Amino acid sequence: MITATQAAAITTGTWDPNGPTLAVYDPATDELVGVVPQMSATEVLQSIEASIVAQQQWRETTGLERSKVLQRFGELMRDQEDRLAKLLTHEQGKPLSEALGEIRYAASFLEWSAGEARRIYGETIPAPRANQRILVLKQPIGVTAAITPWNFPSAMITRKLGPALAAGCSMIVKPAELTPLSAIALLELAEMAGLPSGVFTVVTGVPETVGNAIMTHPAVRMMSFTGSTAVGKMLIEKAAHHVMRLGLELGGHAPFIVFDDADLDQAVKAAVACKFRNAGQTCICANRFLVQRSIVEQFTERLAGEVDRLRVGHGLAEGTHIGPLINDRAVEKVTLHIEDALNHGAELVTGGTVLSPDNLTSRFMAPTILSGVTPNMRIFREETFGPVAPITAFDHETEAISLANASDYGLAAYFFTQNASRLMRVAEQLEYGIIGANDGAPSTAEAPFGGMKQSGLGREGGHHAMDEYLEVKYVSWRI
Ligand code: SIN
Repeated sequence: MITATQAAAITTGTWDPNGPTLAVYDPATDELVGVVPQMSATEVLQSIEASIVAQQQWRETTGLERSKVLQRFGELMRDQEDRLAKLLTHEQGKPLSEALGEIRYAASFLEWSAGEARRIYGETIPAPRANQRILVLKQPIGVTAAITPWNFPSAMITRKLGPALAAGCSMIVKPAELTPLSAIALLELAEMAGLPSGVFTVVTGVPETVGNAIMTHPAVRMMSFTGSTAVGKMLIEKAAHHVMRLGLELGGHAPFIVFDDADLDQAVKAAVACKFRNAGQTCICANRFLVQRSIVEQFTERLAGEVDRLRVGHGLAEGTHIGPLINDRAVEKVTLHIEDALNHGAELVTGGTVLSPDNLTSRFMAPTILSGVTPNMRIFREETFGPVAPITAFDHETEAISLANASDYGLAAYFFTQNASRLMRVAEQLEYGIIGANDGAPSTAEAPFGGMKQSGLGREGGHHAMDEYLEVKYVSWRI
């Protein structure tokens, strides 16, 4: 198990490992950022054992006690936001301003959960018999685990950890092997905030080894995963063994519809923020721009004007808007999607090339716009996870909705209109868990985040997140 002292040594590079390790590299430079333990199945089991013991005590604390620890944890994150953001940029690549935004976003989940810890209300229900009383208790589900992604190395942990701790659960977190250092930095802060050792543990290593040890342990009652739909489906199979509860935030392929009655300034600004945040490596980022034919040229021209101003570079360089993609595989996939679209008749409006600015690695993609994109192209059906905006023209509202819903995914959708009736009508018809109506950045700790169809199960954020970590127990009391 990684202790708080060891965590501090790992994130400052002073740790002297004896066992096998995993190296973490800056995707912009290939410079070594740190090394973390490559845990064996036995070490993962030791962490699970520690988590079981710690949960027995943590579940006995009051909501107020848990709330204070979570609040302090959030404050420590904010106090140390500069250090945490730099670490995040180094291991993940996103611009420092975005990394700072992520640290604040991550802290907000702890602060929100601090409030929720004090509001885990049960119920009394009027009974059908005079001598009966019906009580409903909400109790922590027990030991939980999380497998978190590399695109938001901090916020995707606290979005799971916050409600788990608030509910009285312990949590074992397996961060992505590309970005484990932010997770380890959180571990150190959690213990500084007063979280008893073992309530939150981090296990690092090869996904199969760590994942199997967790998924096959009968004491782990819940797994919260953010990542691909393919891995989500494997977890569903593994969870069947012990009937483990699952929270799944899987892939997305968000439509971004612009109607001819939209405020174009608002739509273009939102399109840039929504598409190019984190170099397009976001589950909820716009993947298909559906624009009404009468304004498609105007929208494309204005979007291109904004996109051409975006600066590509190292995330720590002043003025960078777009950092590197996470690895070479990501560059290959984005390039393939662009080539496939061009081979099938799409036009390149801007971008389309792989860059290596300032002699950095070749993992930088020029922000790209494609027009004339049609449903037969891969980019229209598959998640690209890169800074590419594919534009498709449509004629009528019903066509826009049917194009938007023609996806196995159902995570986020966006649309822009100034017509209030259309706003409600379209919001109701889109088969997506998160709708941005004239809003390209809907994520916030207060609201439920999650998808329909193959985008997942359950919700994170908001008061809804608490249900994922609580059991409902009915007590029938004869008097
Ligand atoms: C994600 O990519 O899954 C997270 C994006 C967000 O929380 O806004």
